[in-house]
Amino acid sequence: MTLARGPRPGPAGDLAWFDRGPLDPGPEAVHASVLDTIGATPLVELGRLFDRPGVQVLAKLELMNPGGSMKDRSARYIVASGMADGSIPPGSRLVESSSGNFGVAVAMAAQLHGLSFTCVVDRNASAANVTIMRGLGADVEVVDEPDEAGGYLHTRLARVHEILATTADTVWINQYANERNWLAHYHGTGAELVDQLLVPPTHLVGAVSTTGSLLGCARRLREVCDPLQVVAADAVGSVIFGGRGGCRELPGLGSSRVPELHSPDEIDRVEHVDDATAAEACRELLATEAIFAGGSTGAVVTAVARLLDDVVPPARVVAIFPDRGDRYLDRVYDDAWLDRARARRVALSR
Ligand SMILES: Cc1ncc(COP(=O)(O)O)c(C=O)c1O
Repeated sequence: MTLARGPRPGPAGDLAWFDRGPLDPGPEAVHASVLDTIGATPLVELGRLFDRPGVQVLAKLELMNPGGSMKDRSARYIVASGMADGSIPPGSRLVESSSGNFGVAVAMAAQLHGLSFTCVVDRNASAANVTIMRGLGADVEVVDEPDEAGGYLHTRLARVHEILATTADTVWINQYANERNWLAHYHGTGAELVDQLLVPPTHLVGAVSTTGSLLGCARRLREVCDPLQVVAADAVGSVIFGGRGGCRELPGLGSSRVPELHSPDEIDRVEHVDDATAAEACRELLATEAIFAGGSTGAVVTAVARLLDDVVPPARVVAIFPDRGDRYLDRVYDDAWLDRARARRVALSR
């Protein structure tokens, strides 16, 4: 079977072209702004890490986006389409809760569109992300009171509501419920995969928090790949799939509330991965494939490894690698942090 590449249906009136990869730079290879360089990320075969007959694992390197993560796509799409349809008026202040990557991506888009931005993060956000956001002109507020589920999301959201209630001309992006979050990946990452592959994948593996990126890719791919098994890599301590909330330290992976976008019927398998296991997988990925990735990529790699234990060849697995390793030097790539994460893993297993 080869992938059919017909016209993409997509919801009526949707601004599909916003996330179709870098826009045509014209006669010279010069882009109007860094936003136009988002997307068109490469696919790389992981033949050293996963060397099994009849099985091919391909990594979609979303970590190569200019802001450092796949969240560049969601931010560009949400901000540009919101300005185009008037739901984000010129000169308004965007407000959002983010673990870091989406905050950086929205800060980029806000700065280039002349908007203000307040980002509420928690103490798990990397220092680098906070510095970058502030450099981009965003107001960053850090909350450090854990919520009842053991994470910080509820505390962050409470602060977002306070800001919305007390500040004029604010617009809440609300990535957990915003349909444009998954649409950015439907028209972006998912559409690119359809363009890049001649032979359809049998499996799609992605890390989840809002679930927007995995659902957007799955919805686009399922239009042309049948069957496609969709696998979510979630954090131990995340409540998305009904688990018990608990301590987790890798930003971007898991959630302490169920996102409105969540659609469990579209996800066939879930692998919960603890911080230490994710970090060990990141280190193995670096040592074997020379790919320097962030913590949630380690969870994706672990989910692929567990999946392959059950898969009957032939199989073609596409794995989404969300962000780079640079902002995890004090966690994933720090030996003392890994020792503590391993101790937490031992405690969890008792
Ligand atoms: C590094 C990283 N991995 C995974 C995710 C989860 O992506 P999504 O919110 O699309 O489920 C995020 C989201 O912020 C992230 O930053």
